[in-house]
Amino acid sequence: MRVAAILTAAGSGTRLGHDLPKALVPLGGVPLVLHAARGLADSGVVDLVVVTVPRGSDGAFATAMTQDAGRLGGMTLTLAVGGTSRQASVAAGLAEVPADVDLVLVHDAARPLTPARLVAEVVAAVRAGHRAVIPVVPVTDSVVDVADGDVRPVDRSTLRGVQTPQGFDRALLDRAHAAAAHRATDEHSAATDDASLCALLGAVVHAIPGADDAFKITTPRDLALAEMLLSEVPA
Ligand code: C5P
Repeated sequence: MRVAAILTAAGSGTRLGHDLPKALVPLGGVPLVLHAARGLADSGVVDLVVVTVPRGSDGAFATAMTQDAGRLGGMTLTLAVGGTSRQASVAAGLAEVPADVDLVLVHDAARPLTPARLVAEVVAAVRAGHRAVIPVVPVTDSVVDVADGDVRPVDRSTLRGVQTPQGFDRALLDRAHAAAAHRATDEHSAATDDASLCALLGAVVHAIPGADDAFKITTPRDLALAEMLLSEVPA
């Protein structure tokens, strides 16, 4: 079973307060996308990676990835121009995945400290027969629903935060993205992850325990936390 990973890196760095695309923002002197690619490589279970990049920044991403050609050497690397939403970027990456790949991971470059063992666990769960696999973590804050203007408490004990990498049977992920493209979602209503697109098709999504270190970098505070964690753990 050949394994491909779509590494989503086509987002902007606006919320991080950066002119650079977020995935090129340095963490410990190394671009976020390279940290995420190292995690995929270190898992030992990924054969090829398609990195979705903002239009016009192929050169900068190619340079970033070659910084660590040795460690990434076991994987074939391809760049694909992303879209205006994460969903569109994943679809563009999926179009570049060769036909002989039957297991696809989708992973955010914005989760640079994701442990390699989590990548391997997601792949193992798909191999064990689960066609859509997500890592999840408990929700620790109290949660309310404010959709209709009123504040309604929500029972957090059954809620989970969803991380990446998410793992899929390739045929299921292809069908989920084809169906999503037909729904003509705009950039605001596009799905924020891929398992939710599979669930819309009626597929069963299997959850495994996620990892605190797989948190997503969105704000400058997240980046500062990642810098602190990185300085505590040898690379
Ligand atoms: O914006 P957000 O942090 O939710 O993005 C999650 C991941 O999706 C990031 O790694 C980002 O680079 C990627 N992304 C993308 N294409 C977009 C928007 C986000 O590949 N249009």
